[in-house]
Amino acid sequence: MSLLEVRDLNTFFRTKHGIVKAVNGVSYTVEAGKTLGIVGESGSGKTVSAMSILQLLDTNGFIESGSIKFDGRELTTLTRREMYEIRGNDISVIFQEPMTSLNPVFTVERQVSEPFMVHQGLSKREAALRVLDMLRDVRIPNPEVVTKQYPHQLSGGMRQRVMIAMALACRPRILIADEPSTALDVTIQAQILKLMNDLQEEKGTSIMFITHDLGVVCQMADDVAVMYCGQVVEMAPARTIFGKPQFSHPYTEGLLFSIPRLDTPSDVRLEAIPGAVPHPLKLPDGCKFAPRCKYATERCKVEEPELVEVQPGQGVRCFYPDLKERRKDG
Ligand SMILES: Nc1ncnc2c1ncn2[C@@H]1O[C@H](COP(=O)(O)OP(=O)(O)O)[C@@H](O)[C@H]1O
Ligand code: SF4
Ligand SMILES: [Mg+2]
Repeated sequence: MSLLEVRDLNTFFRTKHGIVKAVNGVSYTVEAGKTLGIVGESGSGKTVSAMSILQLLDTNGFIESGSIKFDGRELTTLTRREMYEIRGNDISVIFQEPMTSLNPVFTVERQVSEPFMVHQGLSKREAALRVLDMLRDVRIPNPEVVTKQYPHQLSGGMRQRVMIAMALACRPRILIADEPSTALDVTIQAQILKLMNDLQEEKGTSIMFITHDLGVVCQMADDVAVMYCGQVVEMAPARTIFGKPQFSHPYTEGLLFSIPRLDTPSDVRLEAIPGAVPHPLKLPDGCKFAPRCKYATERCKVEEPELVEVQPGQGVRCFYPDLKERRKDG
């Protein structure tokens, strides 16, 4: 059994222009102790799918249908109170911009000790000692100094480490990391990714890693879900996607082309996917990727492909999943 199983999830938003179908029949799984990478351009529904799991949707959003099972327990029907317990103990989340998630008027000690006091009933003194342990865990130098500091006194990388410490404080079984390194420069980003990998090895936490950058997924993930327009267009083990795949979604293929490689000369323009993500209220009929797909046929414009298992463990939502076949046709 998978630790987290999302099945056929539909999450919609009521807006004055109509219903936005932000997440549209999404399924994915997170295995115990493994990392699922969720990748896709901005607006593809990555964050909304994660917020659905935690029941942290904006007030105009709702889960229209679908199932979210954590360790066999259905989450979509839990009360607020029960969900609050899950968020404090089993599933933690870190967001992209630590400054908006950290409270500027509290010291590091005060913020990181809160979960210990609220969820584990430790005293202030006991909690403060645990905070120092946590700061050491996330490799913060001088934890005794940092614990007395305020968020604005820390660098971006240090703030992100504090966020990770807070998220791991209650030893969650799953850590949802939504673009945790996007706002950081590349060197710091690499350090944060390595830290998360190391912590996963030490603590066995499952990670759901959300990013728009397939290069980051390559460093982090065991399994990959590629999202486009609120759907999973490809789901596969990372080694399949980053190996020499026989099958692939044209969108994944496009994302792969746009990863800078160490041997890419800096004056070579990377092949980005032409066109833009369609407006969520004006999604095309047929395949949602058709307007941008260089392999699109007449069929693609009128008929919508299902996510089909092309080989064990790999699903592709495309009429022409075989790379060689479609190169011949295209
Ligand atoms: N509160 C909201 N009201 C209406 N639409 C929303 C709301 N929140 C998100 N959306 C829409 O849902 C879609 C998916 O958003 P999101 O999950 O944030 O994308 P991603 O994280 O992949 O960049 C987008 O089209 C976005 O505009
Ligand atoms: S179904 Fe057609 S348009 Fe959609 S991704 Fe496949 S080839 Fe491209
Ligand atoms: Mg997002």
